[in-house]
Amino acid sequence: MKLTIIGTGYVGLVSGVSFADLGNDVVCVDKDEQKIAQLKKGISPIYEEGLDALLEKNIHNEKIHFTTDLAASAPDSDVIMIAVGTPQAADGSADLSFVRTVAGELGEVLPSDHRTVVVNKSTVPIGSAEEVEKIIRKKNANADVAVCSVPEFLREGSAVKDTFHPDRIVIGTDVSWANERLVHLHEPLADSEQIITTSARSAEMIKYASNAFLATKISFINEIANICEAYGANIDEVSRGIGTDRRISPHFLNAGLGFGGSCFPKDVQALIALAKDKDYEANLLQSTVAINATQRLKPVEILHHKFPRGLQDLKVAVLGLAFKPGTDDMRYAPSIDIIHELVKAGADVHAHDPIVLDAAAPLLPRAVTLHNEAEQALSKADAIVLVTEWDVYKQHPIADLAATMTGNVIIDGRNVLDANAFKEQGFDYYGIGRR
Ligand code: UDX
Repeated sequence: MKLTIIGTGYVGLVSGVSFADLGNDVVCVDKDEQKIAQLKKGISPIYEEGLDALLEKNIHNEKIHFTTDLAASAPDSDVIMIAVGTPQAADGSADLSFVRTVAGELGEVLPSDHRTVVVNKSTVPIGSAEEVEKIIRKKNANADVAVCSVPEFLREGSAVKDTFHPDRIVIGTDVSWANERLVHLHEPLADSEQIITTSARSAEMIKYASNAFLATKISFINEIANICEAYGANIDEVSRGIGTDRRISPHFLNAGLGFGGSCFPKDVQALIALAKDKDYEANLLQSTVAINATQRLKPVEILHHKFPRGLQDLKVAVLGLAFKPGTDDMRYAPSIDIIHELVKAGADVHAHDPIVLDAAAPLLPRAVTLHNEAEQALSKADAIVLVTEWDVYKQHPIADLAATMTGNVIIDGRNVLDANAFKEQGFDYYGIGRR
């Protein structure tokens, strides 16, 4: 099939190379000329395991091309995917302006004598497929087009793997020829029972509901962790104990500093805003957000408790800046809020991340010192706060830490360190819900 994918962010680019690798002819379109120039040379704008190799292979095989010219590719495409950003507007709702602009451009270039499926891949409010179709038809009343919703569920850090091994694929359309074409396109990726066909509105809701559920599961386990702490129960044991119930499942039960990234925070807010538009107060989702906002500042709370006279001039090593391991994405990363609070309290903050440093700098207070080597951040530290659970931190020898640090406080914001081993070596170890 011939595919045009508009937007070369996470979703667009990973989908583009994946469908190209499956043998489709893919053209990725983006307005950003510099990005397109780099992509033509095989240089990816994002760090994602496996992506560079797939990109290089499919550029070499001429299965994927990059352009800034939508009109050159869209008119004879079988499927056009809209994968542009839907950033958060001031009121929490999703800002659809990029999607609307693309829809208008498609209306201008789509012919009436070629049947095209347009897919909303971006996370968009319920009813957006209909809105996009309306915008296209306003420009071209005779366009032979069906606008569908096929939401994307890939995770950063495992985006390529998730695309090739999805739990399910949701195809949202009431138009049978469009459904047939999309099922055919996705067949190589999943067994037939994993392909779920719904209305476009349900597909749009499935995306929001999935992310809201997972975010709520994280806030739930963090709340239980906080109660565990108060009563001396251990969240690791509690998570294992409840996760073995198949109705609950063990996934997304890791207590820690809560969720960040480009999806959960924005999508939960957008769903709250969608509900509010219809006069429904989404109380549970509001609690999910509120718990998450407090949870990320737990290390600061622990340090204040540990050093009641204040954090002035305390050297704090912050390990990990990216919102999670395996990505260079800093969007809504807990590290940003934690470092701002520590600096505000007068601490001397030294931070490290194995991947993201330059991109993090503009988001952090000037007073923070960023280090290329973890050892430099740890040297003479009074306390360590582990924010992102990169493997290098888990593997760091405890004896080396003891030798380089001045103090002995370790705050394990992701519950990934061996608490007993640290305690045996004389460290004052704090996990989340592990006390
Ligand atoms: C998420 C969804 O998983 C994905 O399906 C959707 O398409 C986009 O949003 P992503 O944001 O890449 O993906 O990361 P994910 O691995 O889901 O983690 C999200 C956040 O939750 C991270 O900040 C992570 O640290 C946190 N998390 C996850 C926990 O705090 N505890 C857990 O048990 C799991």
